[in-house]
Amino acid sequence: MKQFLTFALLIFTINANAQNQLIIPSVIEDTVINLTLQNGTHQFLPGQVTTTMGVNGSILGPTLIVNKGDNLDINVTNDLGQPTTIHWHGMHVSSPNDGGPHTIIDPGTTWNPKFTVLDKASTMWYHPHLHHFTDEHVSKGIAGFIIVRDAEEAALNLPRTYGVDDIPLAIQTKDFDANNQVVPLSNADDILMVNATIDAFTDLPAQIVRLRVLNGSSQRVFNLGLSGNQTFYQIGTDGGLKETPLALTRLQLAPGERTEILLDLNGLEGQTIQLMSYASEFPNGIYGSTSPGMNPNMPLDFYNPNPLNGADFNILQINVVAQTANPVTTIPTSLVTVTPYLEADADFSRNLTFQSTVGGFTQLNGDFSINNVSFDMNVINITIPLDNIEIWTIQNNSPIAHPFHIHDVQFYILDVNGAPTPPSATGLKDTYLIPGGQGGSIRIITKFDDFANDSIPYMYHCHMLMHEDGGMMGQFVVVDPTASIEDVDVNENEFILFPNPSDGVYMTAKLTDESELITAYAVVNSLGQIVSYHKIDEKEVSNIYSFPVFEYNSGMYSLRIYTKNGSYTKKFVVK
Ligand code: C2O
Ligand code: CU
Ligand code: CU
Repeated sequence: MKQFLTFALLIFTINANAQNQLIIPSVIEDTVINLTLQNGTHQFLPGQVTTTMGVNGSILGPTLIVNKGDNLDINVTNDLGQPTTIHWHGMHVSSPNDGGPHTIIDPGTTWNPKFTVLDKASTMWYHPHLHHFTDEHVSKGIAGFIIVRDAEEAALNLPRTYGVDDIPLAIQTKDFDANNQVVPLSNADDILMVNATIDAFTDLPAQIVRLRVLNGSSQRVFNLGLSGNQTFYQIGTDGGLKETPLALTRLQLAPGERTEILLDLNGLEGQTIQLMSYASEFPNGIYGSTSPGMNPNMPLDFYNPNPLNGADFNILQINVVAQTANPVTTIPTSLVTVTPYLEADADFSRNLTFQSTVGGFTQLNGDFSINNVSFDMNVINITIPLDNIEIWTIQNNSPIAHPFHIHDVQFYILDVNGAPTPPSATGLKDTYLIPGGQGGSIRIITKFDDFANDSIPYMYHCHMLMHEDGGMMGQFVVVDPTASIEDVDVNENEFILFPNPSDGVYMTAKLTDESELITAYAVVNSLGQIVSYHKIDEKEVSNIYSFPVFEYNSGMYSLRIYTKNGSYTKKFVVK
């Protein structure tokens, strides 16, 4: 069955006459947003239906159209019968509203994030983020667009009639088994779809048309281009519009990334154009090229045979039809002002290194780690002072390119492999493909402003979902060094701390009330800065906890311990 289908799809791409009308997701344009996560079925392939997960429907989710400054009140009801989370990818929100792996929505419950939209006009998206299950929940169908609008964008002569001249395109590849069921965590993703439509066509008017393209695939990178190599114009990156439209014939889009492009279809009524991926042009080392590793002899399990690897293929057939009333017919000459942070203003620099957990430079089959550690829900890998401007150097010491993504912030890319940032990657970004091989690297700059929370972390990770689920992720908290830590033994009786002054390697905190449990602790220095934060594994929580102090210089510190009921702070001295 599956072999036949693959063969049939190949024929379609060669004959270039797509069969299925592109699905356009429905819209919610409101500040009160009700989303229900549900199980369903979808007819992807002839024969057996596919079991799916969707939002307010059986596949994908509605497009949320919001405005900068809106105060959103969102209800996410989980009717999946299993836990999950929903993350607003790209949006600048506080960590409790971010929907990362700690913010679990239990089956039968509703999560109610409330936040103000602070982002610039852009194309964001939402998807599940439950650790170990992100790929499964996304692959089974949960993903939706968020279109952010603002006054700056509204002042431009751009297409913005949803579904008419402003089209969301979620490109995904999936692997189906012999019973037409989605196989998560697979390297055999040979079925391509746009908005859950396999072999899709759409009618677009003979004028300027805006495409908001999301790579929602678990692993595959696309090399966007038009049949006939017509020029198109990139107007937006992940987090906002560019300064000026960029004329291109190719645009690389890695998992998690979005781009906004304009097509000039003026005068083309009656013609057919294919939006394609020219993956044959990818160098080795990219998932989607002939060889996903730099060295063509490195095998990735189940990667080949796959008609999509290293080949040029159609993504969407565009049938150009009559103009609409009041069409946009020109490409604007300028867009918005983009003001990158300056290197000279950076407060701190950090280095992240990607590597395979076993197998060094030759391993393609994972797992991969960041700075030699795998993701641990209970470990905060990085603590960042609020309002820090930071430069992160992300080095890839593995043979495959990985899309780096960070929550909370949008960043600017300073350089790629030491060379100037490609023009298509200037502007606000939250995801970018780090080239493979020993020493592929990028440097980014960003500012961690507005939101501090010392207990719920944000994530940074590879957006190849198999890698993320396999532990290629870390977490950071943003802490406010100026926030006052109740610097007191307000209630002498809440806990005891010994030995104090510390004479050795460990100190022990013990809650007086034995029914209370220590769930986390932070060590705060005399400047009020959190120097260490640690969540305690659920299996290890008790009313007593010993923590290391040997790393600290001598001086005065505070220990803050967290329980379900609040936090308590006591001073201690390291000799
Ligand atoms: Cu789109 Cu942490 O992810
Ligand atoms: Cu994200
Ligand atoms: Cu990866």
